[in-house]
Amino acid sequence: MNFKLFLLTAAVVVPSLGHGIITTPPVRAPGPASPAACGSAITNILKADNQSGIESLYGASGSDPDFKAASCNLVLCKGLKLEDNLANVQPYHPGQEINIKVWTRIPHKGWASVAVMDTRTSPVPLIICEPLISFETDSATGFSTASAPVDMHFNVTLPGSLGGRCTEPGNCVLQWTWFGRVVH
Ligand SMILES: *[C@@H]1O[C@H](CO)[C@@H](O)[C@H](O)[C@H]1NC(C)=O
Ligand SMILES: *[C@@H]1O[C@H](CO)[C@@H](O)[C@H](O)[C@H]1NC(C)=O
Repeated sequence: MNFKLFLLTAAVVVPSLGHGIITTPPVRAPGPASPAACGSAITNILKADNQSGIESLYGASGSDPDFKAASCNLVLCKGLKLEDNLANVQPYHPGQEINIKVWTRIPHKGWASVAVMDTRTSPVPLIICEPLISFETDSATGFSTASAPVDMHFNVTLPGSLGGRCTEPGNCVLQWTWFGRVVH
């Protein structure tokens, strides 16, 4: 038995109104633990729009006295808590191919990547191995270039070994990151 457990989540990082969320596999969502860790301002932004860009969360963190940097790490799953999302933990095995679908409503020119991250290397999550995929997004109507997956439906393949990491739920996440700017 050598199963690895990840919690997959989405993080969108854009300099403007960036919007996107992974729809397959399931991602972290705000729950009861969120306001206690991140404050109600960030929680409410994510509840109102699950595609919210991380820059709006940073903005809210500065003015909410209930934001706790030690328990709400915005670069990791937008601060969303494992305890609110235990049902979303995915069991994967080494070398497994994973189908990923991203829903976005506003095209962005930029770069997207998916990587396995160790959540215990706070405050900066450690990327394990290389990113599993990285590609350019560039189109006013979709997200494809000659080298980029169309509509951000793509597969990634886990490494054959993660060096003994990722054996317990929440130790690791599969994180999607998207830097970009709106395509006009
Ligand atoms: C995100 O929010 C929309 C409503 O705006 C909802 O339809 C959708 O299911 C949510 N997606 C996820 C992955 O939670
Ligand atoms: C993507 O991975 C899924 C398993 O999650 C598999 O069923 C499908 O055939 C793969 N698609 C491609 C294009 O390799």
